[in-house]
Amino acid sequence: MANTYVLVCQNADCKARGAVELLDKLGQSLQGAEGVEVKPYMCFGACQAGPNIVVYPTKTWYCQVKASDVEEIAAHAKGGSPVERLTHGVDPSLKDLIFQLLDAGLF
Ligand code: FES
Repeated sequence: MANTYVLVCQNADCKARGAVELLDKLGQSLQGAEGVEVKPYMCFGACQAGPNIVVYPTKTWYCQVKASDVEEIAAHAKGGSPVERLTHGVDPSLKDLIFQLLDAGLF
């Protein structure tokens, strides 16, 4: 069982902005990382700010993620610091809603 999840939106808008590649690259970067699991997510509801990635349970929401950000996000998932510059741009009330769903086990 993982301690940390890296949830990568794979719905249409995020996919159109490169989310498939991000899921792929994160999977490669975190392969063998103890307690970390990379998983697709259906949609976080912030489609215009995509690609969106949420690291849980630290509840760190990354938006407008690029392939060049992957290594830093992977380092965070392995216990490093959050990538602060990617954490802005999504409405806090939407974040709360999604985090409540994740807390309820919906992922
Ligand atoms: S398509 Fe990714 S948040 Fe909706």
